[in-house]
Amino acid sequence: MPGTCVIGLQWGDEAKGKLVDLLTPGVEVVVRYQGGANAGHTVVTGKDVYKLHHIPSGILHEGVMNIVSTGVVINPKTILEEIDGLQDRGVPVEDRLMISDRAHVVFPWHIAEDRVLNARLVGGESIGTTLRGIGPCYRDKVGRSLAIRLGDMLRDDFPDRVHQVVAAKRQILEGIGDLEPGELDADQIVEQYSDHARRLQSFISDSTAYLLDAVEQDRRILYEGAQGSLLDIDHGTYPFVTSSNSSGVGIPAGAGVPPRWITKVLGVIKSYSTRVGGGPFPTEQENATGEQIRELGKEYGTTTGRPRRCGWLDAVAVRYAVRLGGVNALSLMLLDVLSQLPEIKICVAYELDGERIDYFPSHAEDLRSVTPVYETFEGWQQDVTGARSMEDLPAGAHDYLARVTELVGCPVEVVSVGPDREQTIFVSGNPLAVSS
Ligand code: IMP
Repeated sequence: MPGTCVIGLQWGDEAKGKLVDLLTPGVEVVVRYQGGANAGHTVVTGKDVYKLHHIPSGILHEGVMNIVSTGVVINPKTILEEIDGLQDRGVPVEDRLMISDRAHVVFPWHIAEDRVLNARLVGGESIGTTLRGIGPCYRDKVGRSLAIRLGDMLRDDFPDRVHQVVAAKRQILEGIGDLEPGELDADQIVEQYSDHARRLQSFISDSTAYLLDAVEQDRRILYEGAQGSLLDIDHGTYPFVTSSNSSGVGIPAGAGVPPRWITKVLGVIKSYSTRVGGGPFPTEQENATGEQIRELGKEYGTTTGRPRRCGWLDAVAVRYAVRLGGVNALSLMLLDVLSQLPEIKICVAYELDGERIDYFPSHAEDLRSVTPVYETFEGWQQDVTGARSMEDLPAGAHDYLARVTELVGCPVEVVSVGPDREQTIFVSGNPLAVSS
């Protein structure tokens, strides 16, 4: 019965990895269901820092099966590096990891296409992708005729299939005038990817069948979202989005689990907002405050190292993501970052064409035109990194959390005050418990 999801409610990087790692001891299976090597989930255990891209953040726990399910796009080289990195540090990945044979594979032509197309502007701006080939791989998945899945790499006709796709991709890339000399050598790709397939073989399985058995056997499952709801391909700030359903709506399709098995949705937000890449960001602070948040929050991309754009919490955007995801409870991360600011703002509404609105506009250009309406709070300017219960937090932080709850229409169940596992406050019991 219990199926809990952890999803980001902003533009990604909400510290979902920490929460998934914390909740994993209460479950038997953790599932990544969309995205790919564009994601960067960080788990900190004492002095050890683990950076994961495909592998679920539950991998450090014994007795838990970690599934990279059908909706994820796999870069075999990157996932092998993750596996090697974990094994080198003594994590027995062999017994804990399964990768769907239906998952689609990112090939060098996808990365080449990402490079070429990301350089083209949309509405005067680059999407600013992670250049990991994510969009082109999902496009081929939907297009079908040039796609290759993980299971295909284990079949005898794999070399022929690569030659066939490379011939088509060369034509396409030469057509847009951007194939570099020596790029896309079919024989070399076959050799490299066959080697990857051989090394990944023991992990590749039918994860859909495994998960259907698991839900029918009442096993406790945690679904780990990547990116954030506002980057959702259908419901985010299109076209400045990623190419998968990164909000809660992506779980049934990406994991292969019927929606009725999802019983709790935990939405993760930061106490401020960040965004990487292009696209509208109403509460962005391109000033000293933004820089201060970036430095205090160490806001640099896990995957690309890019400095993240920083700004105030946008309650209009979060409320939209809460409603879209059917979110039951919030986990508010990085509260400690606000502790050093003299004044804190929350965007409570927008002004668009001279009118106050409280909804999240569907068109990126409208979102770009809005002026945020802020409420301002006096900062509490007191270190909260040692807080372990709500009583340890200053009155100003209580006021802030109460107002967030009110504005986004959802209770805060978890508060994080630092990167370590211990720096976490469970406000009301066990977040895995089903709530209304
Ligand atoms: P793509 O997913 O690489 O195609 O990039 C599309 C957009 O999503 C870009 O703005 C990226 O910066 C953003 N994006 C992709 N993955 C992440 C992530 O894990 N965190 C934050 N932003 C991301």
